[in-house]
Amino acid sequence: MPPDAAEASSSATLSLPDGRVLQLPVLRDAAGATFLDVRRLYPEHAVCTFDPGFNSTASCASAITYIDGENGRLLYRGYPIEELAKHGDMMDCWHLLLRGSLPTKAQRRVFQREARGHRMVHEHLIRFFNGFQHDAHPMAIMVSVVGALSAFYDKDHGVDYDDAETRDLAGLRVVGKMTTLAAMAYKTAHGQPIVYPRDDLNLAENFMYMLFALPTRAYEVDPVAAKCLEVILMLHADHEQNASTSTVRIAGSSKANPFACVAAGVASLWGPAHGGANEAVLAMLEEIGDVENIPKCVARAKDKNDPFRLMGFGHRLYKTTDPRATLMRDMCHDLLSHLRSRDPLLTLAMALEKTALQDEYFTSRRLYPNVDFYSGICFRALGIPRNMFTVVFAVARSVGWISQWCEMAGEKPQRISRPRQMYTGAQERRFVPVAERGDGDEEEDEGSFGSLESVEKRIVDVRVAMPHP
Ligand code: CMC
Repeated sequence: MPPDAAEASSSATLSLPDGRVLQLPVLRDAAGATFLDVRRLYPEHAVCTFDPGFNSTASCASAITYIDGENGRLLYRGYPIEELAKHGDMMDCWHLLLRGSLPTKAQRRVFQREARGHRMVHEHLIRFFNGFQHDAHPMAIMVSVVGALSAFYDKDHGVDYDDAETRDLAGLRVVGKMTTLAAMAYKTAHGQPIVYPRDDLNLAENFMYMLFALPTRAYEVDPVAAKCLEVILMLHADHEQNASTSTVRIAGSSKANPFACVAAGVASLWGPAHGGANEAVLAMLEEIGDVENIPKCVARAKDKNDPFRLMGFGHRLYKTTDPRATLMRDMCHDLLSHLRSRDPLLTLAMALEKTALQDEYFTSRRLYPNVDFYSGICFRALGIPRNMFTVVFAVARSVGWISQWCEMAGEKPQRISRPRQMYTGAQERRFVPVAERGDGDEEEDEGSFGSLESVEKRIVDVRVAMPHP
């Protein structure tokens, strides 16, 4: 649904404190959700909306992914994630997200050959890895080396923002090279020699091979473990306008290089409130250590004076269990039973989930397990170390980022993302030369605007003072 093609089904009336009454078009999306179209508020009417964290703001129209947070549903281009995970594979998923449809058998053959053909990275780029401290976090390495791809693929090397064919090629290059860069980051952080990709293996097999093969012994990929990794990658492939995807879109709206935009997405994903949560979940479970310590942990999460949060719980959109968390929990069981191993952290995680879901604090706020609650345990079983969890998430999400970038770059007309702000700083004031300033710790005059509260109060005052129309 391109933004300007959205049909206005009716209008809403907005009454401003100065007496003006504006009609705002009301839009409905493909799922029937309601949106107020505020695009003409500024500059036409000199009014802006205030929505920190974008809780109530649709920053774009997109046909890629749909989340029904109330009912715990996730669709990629209309296909439920459960069905894709059960019956599809990564080639289906990539083709679906990048090109909009499930590939026919013939399309799959061509697409697979094309995607596998982009796994190599330029030898000069590999030299970058030698520049990092031996204990550098692999996400720090990823931010740099993914951004460095922009030095190899720019306007002079066939990247044209306005051309659909080269956008598609950029997409294939991103998804093709992310696993290679991630495996090289792992090898660098572990002081092991880099392993080059192989075209005869599928995506997950090749990823495991590049992560775990050593020159000293033969490495056989476990097909069950590789399938599990593939499903994990599919579950994380896209998730509509989350922080990292919005970052990619905002960076891309200036027509910046797509590889640099994806690096911006990697940076945003790194935080513990986003992709870094899976690492934090495992740290939390290890700290809890035993089922008898769960009540203490839950009490801390509920204490408003304690910054601690139950990691892997809560989501901006899901107000029930994240469907990916359910798939991930089931996969944990299957993988551990295949490996004939057990992980006490899985038992602990399930006990913690049960306790939290019986607690009024979590149920009243509708805080349920999200994808990260069980993913770390799966990664552990696959032999992926903790500091690589978010890297694997970045590998998975790269297809979503670049698909969203392609969708945005193909839209007409194009507008640079440029949010407004509500200014809370000082009024214009006279600059004081150093010679006229005091010697002590005296505070500078802050001017008449010092805080958000003062701005809000001022607005209320204006409203009260205004004569009603
Ligand atoms: N533990 C304890 N309290 C929580 C938690 C939690 N994990 N999550 C939310 N709350 C409380 C929060 O304190 C607030 O309480 P109150 O209304 O009394 O002030 C209420 O629930 C609403 O929280 P919020 O911060 O306004 O919700 P949000 O939509 O801004 O934040 C979130 C969503 C995912 C950042 C948050 O739930 C969180 O920090 N969870 C833990 C980190 C985590 O698991 N992140 C992974 C997210 S899913 C993967 C991804 O998308 O990358």
